[in-house]
Amino acid sequence: MAFSDGIADFRSDTVTRPTAAMRKAMAEAEVGDDVYSDDPTVNLLEEESAEAVGKEAAVFVPSGTMGNQLAVMTQTRPGDEVLCDEGAHVRNVERGAASALSGVAFRTVPAEGGRITPGDVEAAMALAGRFFPAIRLMVWENSHNLSGGRVVPKELMEATNEAARRHGLSIHLDGARIFNAALALGVPATELAAGADTVQFCFSKGLGAPIGSVLCGPADLIAEARHLRKRLGGGMRQVGVIAAPARIALAERARLVEDHALARSLAEAFAARYPGSVDLDTVETNIVNVDVAKLGVPYPEIADRLAAAGVLVNAPFGGIWRLVTHRDVDQADVDRLLAALP
Ligand SMILES: Cc1ncc(COP(=O)(O)O)c(C=O)c1O
Repeated sequence: MAFSDGIADFRSDTVTRPTAAMRKAMAEAEVGDDVYSDDPTVNLLEEESAEAVGKEAAVFVPSGTMGNQLAVMTQTRPGDEVLCDEGAHVRNVERGAASALSGVAFRTVPAEGGRITPGDVEAAMALAGRFFPAIRLMVWENSHNLSGGRVVPKELMEATNEAARRHGLSIHLDGARIFNAALALGVPATELAAGADTVQFCFSKGLGAPIGSVLCGPADLIAEARHLRKRLGGGMRQVGVIAAPARIALAERARLVEDHALARSLAEAFAARYPGSVDLDTVETNIVNVDVAKLGVPYPEIADRLAAAGVLVNAPFGGIWRLVTHRDVDQADVDRLLAALP
């Protein structure tokens, strides 16, 4: 359902607002100083998070970016390269953090939908560490944001992980939306994460928590990440108040299937009304990429119509208009969006 001011917001799954139950949990949360590991609510959240992805330990961080960057910092040395796909969030949308903080560069492969193959790894490793920099870490992103929420099948992850391990690489999974991927693939998140050393996921994307992400992995690596989190200014104090809604978000993760169904309904409506505007095969989770040129109307006109109807969207980027579903939009909002279009 749209926000109480009537706005239906399709810009991102990060725009959700905490539910009444989350706000109550925030008010009632038991807290302590988390830098002393004294916050019981954070401790519970970390245990539940590690368990959700089958890892030994977890550290609560303010953002997915910090989770990813701690993974890079703990698993590389300055001068190394990190192997990832061209569209990876860690490379493109974290404001150069990996270069600035860890002194690494990226070796990218043009893997559509984040689907890095064993052959990509072999090709990248052919020169690595000889004339080229060493590649120390491979990063997956599942689901894959910039490609429109596409998922990487478990079998491909396993085959590629095997190749990466043969070359001695560490593996990080940027699972900002790992539960979307798991539900879409019909595979437990633990299985998608099994081949990775570390996994980052977010409570604030689609799940409805106001803030927070977590980095999960082996206890010794997470202890090092906790140390580096403090260095980055991410040591937090009585943050049981934000861990409490995150615990609810995690417990309710199965609801993401509703967002997938809504995205499919939106995508099918576009495909029927504006042929060629959406490739239905690529709509796998809660993101719909629309080829705006196929709508046959200049985008500024679309923007005006949607604004008048109380529908918020991002402007297209590179001709692609990205619409995202989440717990604060429903079929009535999708119908409103469609009704506002010419
Ligand atoms: C795949 C992916 N990884 C990491 C992040 C970073 O999360 P945050 O915005 O909390 O830093 C995002 C954010 O959208 C994302 O989509």
